[in-house]
Amino acid sequence: MTKNIKLRIGVLISGNGSNLQSIINACEDSNFPAELAIVISNKTDAYGLVRAKKSNIKTKVIEHENFKHRSEFEKNINRALIEANVELVCLAGFMRILTNTFVCSWKERLINIHPSLLPAFKGLNTHQRAIECGVKFSGCTIHFVSSEMDEGPIILQAAVPVHQHDTSKTLAKRVLDTEHKLYPFAIRLFANKRIKIEKDLVKFTNIQDSNEILINPTTKN
Ligand code: GAR
Repeated sequence: MTKNIKLRIGVLISGNGSNLQSIINACEDSNFPAELAIVISNKTDAYGLVRAKKSNIKTKVIEHENFKHRSEFEKNINRALIEANVELVCLAGFMRILTNTFVCSWKERLINIHPSLLPAFKGLNTHQRAIECGVKFSGCTIHFVSSEMDEGPIILQAAVPVHQHDTSKTLAKRVLDTEHKLYPFAIRLFANKRIKIEKDLVKFTNIQDSNEILINPTTKN
């Protein structure tokens, strides 16, 4: 029997799960260095659960509404992740704030995707706020999670233009298309142990050319 050396990831979702789908697709490639151990949703009707089931991935619903205290909700998530032998937790449209206790117990093993170029536009309604601010570029960020919302060492970012006639919907679509490239890329770098944190900043090992860690913009395209 060959030893399974793939990184086991757990994905936490609350909704559509298109980022989850991009991770599922990446994991279907036998050369991808990670596998999906479990998908956990805090919503029973999250479409991401349908996506996971279609691909025979273990799912679990842990509804925050069923718990009086946030700590109990998180203990259940933590237990499910540990039982599934998860090594990296990926938040993909998971719309609950996690407490310091949870964040600390997954220190440097918990990452999130956010639909803006952090530290700009933390929180909700990112695309509408970006348009109203008149920024000419927006994008998405993958970062390690810290106890502050949408903060923590930035791993990867990808930029997209903001066009004059964009609505939050058209911009969201452009950003989301890029998110789908960025998440599998970040997981690959993590699984291949290319990411290290030095003084709260992410550095990459074995970088020959800085274009290597850029999706967009890159001089390669
Ligand atoms: C994505 O745009 C993700 O970046 C965002 O929610 C969307 C989920 O889409 N996350 C946040 O805003 C977290 N602060 P998906 O369910 O189709 O992957």
